[in-house]
Amino acid sequence: KKIVFSGVQPSGALTIGNYIGAIRNWVELQDEYDCYYCVVDQHAITVPQVPKDLRKNTLDVLALFLAAGIDPEKSVLFIQSHVPAHTELSWVLNTMTYMGQLNRMTQFKEKSRRAEENLNAGLFTYPVLMASDILLYQTELVPVGEDQKQHLELARDLAERFNNRYSDTFKVPDPLIKEFGARIMSLQDPTSKMSKSDFDENGYILLLDSPDVITRKIKRAVTDSKGTIDYNEEQLGIKNLLNIYSAFSNEEVDEIVIKYEGQGYGKFKGDLAEVVIEGLKPIQEKYDYLVKNKDYLEKIYKDGADRAAYQAMKTLRKVYKKIGFIPR
Ligand code: TYM
Repeated sequence: KKIVFSGVQPSGALTIGNYIGAIRNWVELQDEYDCYYCVVDQHAITVPQVPKDLRKNTLDVLALFLAAGIDPEKSVLFIQSHVPAHTELSWVLNTMTYMGQLNRMTQFKEKSRRAEENLNAGLFTYPVLMASDILLYQTELVPVGEDQKQHLELARDLAERFNNRYSDTFKVPDPLIKEFGARIMSLQDPTSKMSKSDFDENGYILLLDSPDVITRKIKRAVTDSKGTIDYNEEQLGIKNLLNIYSAFSNEEVDEIVIKYEGQGYGKFKGDLAEVVIEGLKPIQEKYDYLVKNKDYLEKIYKDGADRAAYQAMKTLRKVYKKIGFIPR
């Protein structure tokens, strides 16, 4: 069976962007592939985190994976810091990554532009840790949103570089980026990505937002003065709302456009709010139940860490041997 790996940072509550662009797609891969889904807490600390919030968010993300339909009988669910091989391989790959490659990472450039204090080195080498996550499991497919594409290219590049310098060791992973929904935009600025770190909370919808909040945020979503519901580059706000509608209703965008011909934005937004609320309801209900079940969550992540560590160590041992480290 082919291997799938993907991860989410517990750096805050998850948005519907995380869900539509990534987690939702993970569910359908479980039957066909061996899937590893990871809460990447080590990535999250590249920006300052309050320890008790990080603890809560890490368990929340795990509970949301399960609530969204990830099945621990089929997939390995684990927490990155529980498997030390990730940072161990990361060190090796750091010594093979060029500064120039990391300097070109758009996400780093953006984050460093926004950073108010000194930049930390972890933010810079972040993509190398991500490459380690992926390469440790001999991953072939990585289901992510559009914004991770450049990071995936680095992972591919490092795999090839290592394989050429030593001998065949890593599978070269492919990104799996869907045509629709891979880039959900901010509700307040449809030219920028919906992000949980947006300072304007009206820009995003969280998976755990209440019906009232969802309705309010969608009502306030930026549109345009055309007044028609069409899918094009001149109506980026409506285009984004159509993508969200389609993701939660499982209707094609074309069908939705036909359905709302001649209708106003008010009616469309009202219906969209319904669709999103209904779509999130089963996830929220399962989450409410799971998050109280700390023992169950603990069992899942402990078992996941054992299974992940076993596979990861196999790769790490090979790597250490090839680069000339003496086995103890
Ligand atoms: P993160 O935590 O920022 O986001 C998790 C996943 O959600 C996707 N995503 C979006 N998709 C569509 N529209 C959006 N507005 C949107 N916002 C986020 C992301 O593309 C991602 O798939 N570096 C990664 C985490 C990571 C990882 C990995 C992923 C660490 N190691 C190994 C894959 C494989 C990140 O910061 O994702």
